[in-house]
Amino acid sequence: MSLQNAIGVFDSGLGGLSAVKEFMRVLPAEKIIYFGDTGRVPYGTRSREIIRKYAFQDADFLLKHNVKMVVAACGTVSSVAGAALEEFLPVPYTGVVNPTAYTAVRETRNGKIGVIGTPATVGSHSYKLRLQKLNPEVEVYEQACPLFVSLVENGIIHRDDQITRLVVRRYMAELKDMGVDTVILGCTHFPLLREAISDYMGDDVTLVDSGRETAVYAAKVLKEQNLLNDDDSVKQPEFYVSDTPEGFQSVAGLFLGRNMEHTVTQIDIEQY
Ligand code: DGL
Repeated sequence: MSLQNAIGVFDSGLGGLSAVKEFMRVLPAEKIIYFGDTGRVPYGTRSREIIRKYAFQDADFLLKHNVKMVVAACGTVSSVAGAALEEFLPVPYTGVVNPTAYTAVRETRNGKIGVIGTPATVGSHSYKLRLQKLNPEVEVYEQACPLFVSLVENGIIHRDDQITRLVVRRYMAELKDMGVDTVILGCTHFPLLREAISDYMGDDVTLVDSGRETAVYAAKVLKEQNLLNDDDSVKQPEFYVSDTPEGFQSVAGLFLGRNMEHTVTQIDIEQY
């Protein structure tokens, strides 16, 4: 295994790019190969069997590129297929649940934590189980927010947008009433709604971004396993998608937080 091999990151669509942004910040010398399954998004409303099948196809595609680590930058995949990926992949694996839960337990002051995610993520109770394993005292309130994914994929994310505000209020009201002081953005699409969510929840509520925590955790794993790239020049990511690249081109800048030159290649994921 060469230290110069890339880190493979995948998501059901574009949400995982919010994690790529953090990987580029935390690990600028690492090459990222990203696969977004834009042809089959969303995963979060599908059955466990389908999500697992897709997750292994996505990981196999990345392994064909000799990646030295696989990251599921997707709350849904991490929740439903994380344990199986960890067991069967021949390279180190991380999802987003464990690193994010760890940070939330550290951040909360009143012990009340909200978790928002897709229906599959919330239905798996992955975050709740992990949080209560880390600290059995914490109270966890979960809320599925399926419309958030559509808002983000369509770029309807501005804090002043009436539709965004309405949907945020609809989903977040109960968590606010419960008095949570920390909210896990348990889906990698949700950091794009951070401002709108924060406006509604107030400054006292800490929002924990799963992409950011996962990048920090991946850096730790690579360091411990002596897998960090020894060539410290800054690398540019490579992007693959399973539907036409046009949608990707227009929305990628939003997720990455900047417009950057990039090439996007469309592949047939069913072939891998
Ligand atoms: N990015 C996915 C996640 O983190 C959500 C999108 C989907 O439903 O596929 O859960």
